[in-house]
Amino acid sequence: MSSFGEKGAPGRSVTPPATPSASTPASRPVKTPSTEDRNVEPVKLDYAGVEGGTEKVSAGGEGSPVPEKKTQTVDPWSVESDAAIDYDKLIKDFGTTRISKELLNRFEELTGTKPHHFLTREIFFSHRDLSAILDLYEKGQKFYLYTGRGPSSEALHLGHCIPFFFTKWLQDVFNCPLVIQLTDDEKFLFKQDLKLDECHRLAYENAKDIIAVGFDMSKTFIFSDLDYIQYMYPTILQIQKMTTYNQVRSIFGFTMSDNIGKSAFPAVQAAPSFSACFPIPLNGAKNMPCLIPCAIDQDAYFRMTRDVAPRMKCNKPSLIHSKFFPPLQGRGGKMSGSVGNSAVFLTDTPKQIKDKINKHAFSGGQDTMEKQRELGANLDVDVAYEWLTFFCDDDARIAQIGDDYSTGKMLTGEVKKELIGVLQKMVGEHQERRAAVTDDIVKQFMTVRSLEF
Ligand code: TYM
Repeated sequence: MSSFGEKGAPGRSVTPPATPSASTPASRPVKTPSTEDRNVEPVKLDYAGVEGGTEKVSAGGEGSPVPEKKTQTVDPWSVESDAAIDYDKLIKDFGTTRISKELLNRFEELTGTKPHHFLTREIFFSHRDLSAILDLYEKGQKFYLYTGRGPSSEALHLGHCIPFFFTKWLQDVFNCPLVIQLTDDEKFLFKQDLKLDECHRLAYENAKDIIAVGFDMSKTFIFSDLDYIQYMYPTILQIQKMTTYNQVRSIFGFTMSDNIGKSAFPAVQAAPSFSACFPIPLNGAKNMPCLIPCAIDQDAYFRMTRDVAPRMKCNKPSLIHSKFFPPLQGRGGKMSGSVGNSAVFLTDTPKQIKDKINKHAFSGGQDTMEKQRELGANLDVDVAYEWLTFFCDDDARIAQIGDDYSTGKMLTGEVKKELIGVLQKMVGEHQERRAAVTDDIVKQFMTVRSLEF
């Protein structure tokens, strides 16, 4: 019998499932699940003229120029591209706005805080109505942060950490409440092989990694959909009534053979964008505006949300989107969960980190030391260098490595060594904090209670 039904009644705290004895690496280290899991039509974006593509399409007669035809797929279930992801194209296709220098200047003026290196390095690169949130902050009005995780695996990989690290920073800067949704229901519906109890258990397991990022307990509410659904259900129903099957099919690409739960689920991820779902955590706030940090793969859910918001007489949520942390094999390659050793997990040992990077990180360096000294590395395709731009916050050091590596003063092995040091320290510190997260602490974060703000 399912155990989740015994827990999480409204207003009571929930008991976390027992900690598993072993931690298995995620079954989905990057964004692409196996085809039998998705069973939805990916949204294909055709584009041409970007360097590094693979598929050649004849444009005409023999000898005529052969334009390259490439596709990229970016949706909540997969991120695939024949070449590097074309983020300008995503901004255009999804109708979002690039984060400008002016917006960052305004952010710094208002908050008195230097923008995070994720912002200055354009890792968080796109937004929807972020200015509206800054307007509220300027006027001293309240808003909340909302982000989430689909608990499909024991451990989070470094890519999953990006939105959580950034959300913690935003919470510190804005001193605002935060809700974190664990979509155990989503993973049950979308992952053929996962049982409901297992998804619920993984939600609690993943909560430990999320808590270890350092969120302020007094301002943070983490919830499993299975436990908390009662509070969200009236909002979910409103969203479902205002959204047709045609709309979800065109946004998410569902097919006639997809289970019906998949079509209903987007309303569940949309709902926490509305403060009505949090009468207790947000102290009965009416229509409190919301800012959602996530990678751009999740945007589809919030395009739908923003479409229904005015009809619900609610504020549209604002969003801030990140690029994808690439797999070890390189951003030009197909990101696939079935490619082993493509990610570093928060559970990896120092040796695993070292071995993965030394053996699998795609190098933009030259084949031989002599050639590297003469020609230097191509930073645009070098994974170790790119990973450093995510996790080394020292701008001067990054600039130095960039100069030295691209001019041949540094060798691939040296850049990898630098990255290994950064990651071993970061993951090691995370593991220490996680070890200190007891079941009782998880329970406190996941108890329905009033947040302080
Ligand atoms: P999930 O578990 O796939 O991913 C969790 C968060 O990590 C981001 N992400 C990445 N960011 C950078 N590089 C990567 N390689 C990478 N892979 C994943 C995702 O964008 C996400 O922000 N359905 C969601 C859970 C969810 C949610 C939300 C996420 C529920 N409500 C609100 C964001 C905001 C999911 O399965 O995420």
